[in-house]
Amino acid sequence: MCGIVGYVGKRDAVSLLLSGLRSLEYRGYDSSGIAVHTGAGISVVKRAGRLSVLEEALHERKVKGKCGIGHTRWATHGVATDINAHPFLSRCGKFAVVHNGILSNYLPLAAFLRERGVSLVSDTDSEVIAHLIDYYYTGDVLGAILRAIADVKGSFSLGVISVFEPNVVYGVRKDSPLIVGEGEGEYALCSDISGISFCDKYFPMDNGQVARITENGVTLYDFKGRKLPVSFVKRESDILDERELGTDDMLAEIRQIPTSLMIGHDSFPRERVRELFAEEVKDILVLGCGSAYHAGLVFAEAMREVAGECVRTEIASEFLTERPCVGKDTLVIAISQSGETADTLLAVGRAKEAGAKVLSLCNVRASSLVRQSDCALITRCGREMAVAATKSYVAQVQALLLICLEYADIKGKIAPSALDDFRAETAALSDKAEEVLRSESYIEKVALAAKDAEAVFFLGRKGDYAAAREGSLKLKEVSYLFSEAYPSGELKHGTLALMEHGVYGVIVATDPALFGKNAATVSEITCRGASAIVIAPASLAAEMPAGYVLCIPDAPPLFSPILSAVVMQLFAYYVAKARGCDVDRPRNLAKSVTVE
Ligand code: F6R
Repeated sequence: MCGIVGYVGKRDAVSLLLSGLRSLEYRGYDSSGIAVHTGAGISVVKRAGRLSVLEEALHERKVKGKCGIGHTRWATHGVATDINAHPFLSRCGKFAVVHNGILSNYLPLAAFLRERGVSLVSDTDSEVIAHLIDYYYTGDVLGAILRAIADVKGSFSLGVISVFEPNVVYGVRKDSPLIVGEGEGEYALCSDISGISFCDKYFPMDNGQVARITENGVTLYDFKGRKLPVSFVKRESDILDERELGTDDMLAEIRQIPTSLMIGHDSFPRERVRELFAEEVKDILVLGCGSAYHAGLVFAEAMREVAGECVRTEIASEFLTERPCVGKDTLVIAISQSGETADTLLAVGRAKEAGAKVLSLCNVRASSLVRQSDCALITRCGREMAVAATKSYVAQVQALLLICLEYADIKGKIAPSALDDFRAETAALSDKAEEVLRSESYIEKVALAAKDAEAVFFLGRKGDYAAAREGSLKLKEVSYLFSEAYPSGELKHGTLALMEHGVYGVIVATDPALFGKNAATVSEITCRGASAIVIAPASLAAEMPAGYVLCIPDAPPLFSPILSAVVMQLFAYYVAKARGCDVDRPRNLAKSVTVE
């Protein structure tokens, strides 16, 4: 949902801003732009389209400077055009502003400015900020920014530069993430840490803060202009942050899953989790959006099967109700790769107001969610760049299953021998995921066969149904094929009417105890002309009455959602590739959904 960067230091700002925007492009790719102090004022170059269009424009129009801001946009107000691209300049080019978030009162502010003779050129909510700062400027840039943001309602992180202070970048944060980074004699600003790789120290700004950044340091203020202490932390790097050049990010990230599973297993903070559940917890509620919510569904199923415990799962945006049905005995597990998803943050806020304790499961330590939670468990799967969640979803499921085992043990709900068997299995998952990857070329072949399907239905029972929901989401978001997930048993209650030639069913059938029912599902859809692709454990594959069987290694059903996820992610990837889709940047989407 838009990414912003800022730089001030001794090096060429343009190339550093561009490299930051390249890392942030996953947040939105409708347009991009930069504003740089050139010594003779502020130069702005911005273009609709991918970052490469801006890079080409900058190739022709040489812009040089050591201080600037940049933006990559996911359009909310106004279509993707050069004019609606950020940065926005105020009258006479005195201030340039980039914005991430949504302003709820931009229409009255625009009217206010127009009455005072300001002409607004774009259809965006963001442009008013540049003009408001200009309007309030009376010789003090910080004062003008503070005055302007006092008028603005909604969510915003901002980068601001002005002709009055050629070596200063301002960062402002309210409800949209912003990180300040420190390199050697240089400082930067970024929506997330991935865009400022040259900074080895950083701190995430809190809501209600303004940072004034020069090449000599950072001064932090609250929205009333009072100084605040600044404290940087050292950045930790991770082997899984590396990008595999020449391979799509989505595929590279799927291929990292075995390593991620190994790290996730070895670093799981078992004792900390046990302490958490040693306290009184009467009720567990899982919140998340999209794939993170689906990971919660797998967890709920596991908790029922392994611990006999009923866990509630809610889509975070649906939790924003007057009656949240949580209290001080509730443990909320908030799941989010980015830790910046607005719906999840708002839902967590609501749960905390009602007295619940919040454990976040998050991939970004420096995220808003982690800071908003009572305690956090960090998935260590490294930076995920592709818009579609792959390795992060698997890391979430792994962590949740490990939590489930500890919970079952501490509450005395599992026999020690069963626990030992499960624990041994958790250690084997990395190798089993590696085995799934070895069947990549067969999955690609099956994907080619299904690439022109009229619709694809993902079907399964229990844990397989939870897994099927994620498989379906993955396919639709990257390939644009129509896809839905249903519990297999529901087919005959309506959905069977849609089964005909040209339609595909992906039947997730990993539980040997359900073999008969799953085989019946396959027959039910194929005898109506639909094609079946079955995901089954190797030992049952030969008996499945389907044209295509994608095998996973034998494993207890509890862990199958991890292995079937890898199969379905590869399937989605190869269908999308065969259809010529931009797998890493699917249309209309952005990686981090920082607006409601
Ligand atoms: C799907 C996908 C999204 C995210 C959702 C939540 O592939 O990536 O559905 O899972 O937007 O994002 P996080 O986990 O960052 O809160």
